[in-house]
Amino acid sequence: MDSKEISQAVIKRLPRYHRYLGELIEKGIERISSNELSTRMRVTASQIRQDLNNFGGFGQQGYGYNVKFLYSEMGKILGLDRQHNMIIIGSGNLGQALANYVAFEKKGFIIKGLFDINPRLEGLSVRGIQIMMIEELEDFIKENNIEIATLTIPKDKAGDMADMLVKYGIKAIWNFAHVDLQVPDDVVVENVHLSDSLMTLSYKLSCYEIENQKKM
Ligand code: NAI
Repeated sequence: MDSKEISQAVIKRLPRYHRYLGELIEKGIERISSNELSTRMRVTASQIRQDLNNFGGFGQQGYGYNVKFLYSEMGKILGLDRQHNMIIIGSGNLGQALANYVAFEKKGFIIKGLFDINPRLEGLSVRGIQIMMIEELEDFIKENNIEIATLTIPKDKAGDMADMLVKYGIKAIWNFAHVDLQVPDDVVVENVHLSDSLMTLSYKLSCYEIENQKKM
């Protein structure tokens, strides 16, 4: 199915479904009803049915969902059925932390190289992944079939870097710099802002405190 027909809200929920289904497989659970999945995921059963109906034919009345099949179909929709070669631009605290995280590879995201402009980092490696200088970027992207570039550099450098990456053929940018990047229509950007998540947590905490005060 063309993912463009599926609403963004559903797409955003898919990784969570995929993670839960993976955990069910690890526990040896072969099938699950929308009600059971609903209890585990704390999402209404009707929401689950609606979401999964977008992909058609996964559920069978009276049987529930075939966990392995659903997991693998969702993996295909999320593009996890193939390998994605990645690089990280900016090998400071965050870039190195991401490079140290092994679980991306288990999902098929292979970090092929790290880049920086600081000559003191040249030749060092993180978990066996070499840090290279930015001058090597163009050739490296072309020779290693790099699809995704992760940006962990200061925000005032991110725009120029995105332009350069697009010129070198990068089609997907995982952007951690706090700036909205301008890219052509055929390039996708996913922004990650941990502070947004922290602010949401802080909002929930404030709501909880207000509720408690009302009860006193
Ligand atoms: P850092 O200062 O430890 O690392 C930044 C690295 O980028 C340095 O090694 C620097 O030499 C390199 N760099 C600078 N300009 C470059 C360029 N043009 N090309 C290649 N490398 C370049 O900083 P940290 O803590 O790793 O943060 C990196 C970025 O990520 C910052 O923009 C920060 O605001 C952002 N950040 C975003 C988070 C998020 O949730 N989105 C969370 C934490 C940091």
